[in-house]
Amino acid sequence: MCKSKIYTHDYPMNTQMKIIKAIVLLILSITLIHCSSEEMPKPSFGGPSDGDGTPSKQYLTEFAAFPVGNIVSASKLASNSEDNLKFKEILLNDYNSITAENDMKMANIFRGPDNYDWSDGDAIVAYAKANGLRVHGHALVWHSSIPGWLTNYAGTDEEFSKLIENYIKQTVAHFAEEKDSLGNSVVASWDVLNEYFDGTSVRSSLFSQRMGADFHKKLFQWAREANSDVKLFYNDYNVIGISSKRSAILSMVSDFQSNNIPIDGIGAQVHINYQWPTITDIQNGFQEIANTGLLIHSSELDITVNPNDDISELTAERAISQSVQFQRLAFYYGEIVPKNQQFGITVWGFRDQDSWIYEGGTDWPLLYDNNFEPKPAYDGFRNGLDGQAP
Ligand code: G3I
Repeated sequence: MCKSKIYTHDYPMNTQMKIIKAIVLLILSITLIHCSSEEMPKPSFGGPSDGDGTPSKQYLTEFAAFPVGNIVSASKLASNSEDNLKFKEILLNDYNSITAENDMKMANIFRGPDNYDWSDGDAIVAYAKANGLRVHGHALVWHSSIPGWLTNYAGTDEEFSKLIENYIKQTVAHFAEEKDSLGNSVVASWDVLNEYFDGTSVRSSLFSQRMGADFHKKLFQWAREANSDVKLFYNDYNVIGISSKRSAILSMVSDFQSNNIPIDGIGAQVHINYQWPTITDIQNGFQEIANTGLLIHSSELDITVNPNDDISELTAERAISQSVQFQRLAFYYGEIVPKNQQFGITVWGFRDQDSWIYEGGTDWPLLYDNNFEPKPAYDGFRNGLDGQAP
């Protein structure tokens, strides 16, 4: 997925939303008048005092009734540079679930026929186990993460399919081995298939071309055969914001459910911006995917503030709009998705500069600035996790 793909749509707001937005902006501009980016409102920490002045709650996981995650890499976890020590301190304070941003993708693991390098994933799992974190596996099959040798594989389609079957079964079984103190696999779940749809159509990919129309079903069946406990997710973008894409995904899920194809959850990647989706979109989106009865993962959360390239630095006003959008996302997830389906929310990065969408400093989509200081977005997100309506 590329950034432009998300923002090529025009997302008209209804009149009611425009009025609400105008009121919010008026209040913000009164509050923030003369407030330059150097005078960005500072986030506050901690929840209500327990009486002696000490906040009874301080970190994100303490405010949420469900897991809160972020992304890691084996190299950052192994590094004791000043930046990475800070990153790990925040990780262990604010989060209880982790996803490998890239290390557990096919291109990083699948080195040749029946040749797997799980070492980066193993390092992540060892770190998670030592620190009591859940690992969400990302992603077994994604058209954007294919090793070069596989793209050029000269064997028959049948042999190609067998390679993928082995890769899925071996990788799922391998990562199911490491258990936590309760005897559950540290890798609790996998995105089995990522971004199978392109809009409302099935994407043409190496897998669809070589494995046939039912390849997506086989992936889930193989993953289930490898382990009966690991939770199996379908993960995609624009699930919340674009109803036609959501419908296509829900049809696939319904087909799986009617034909006993194993699926445990839907990952709705939340690569969104400060104005879109609207509150109504967010409510409808979460409600409709929750109606499947599956686990719901609000995955890959980042919120861009400069989709139209109209600012050259993060303004105070835009930072507040971003904060409100983070709060909406967290609040409506907690309010709409039934508790037993709340797999959690995973943020896609720490500092703005670490984001895939930072693009040389032209957007600021995350919760922490480049000095690891929490932005207003952090406050909004925390308040939403805490069940405070935006
Ligand atoms: O591994 C090389 C490294 O050796 C080299 O030094 C570096 C120099 O730029 O590039 C490194 O690889 C890059 C890798 O990120 C690690 O930084 C790849 O070129 C780059 O394509 C890769 O981008 C990742 C992208 O997925 C593609 O895999 C992003 O970090 C990651 O945030 C992004 O995440 C995806 C989700 O997996 C699926 N949904 C969309 C989301 C955003 O695109």
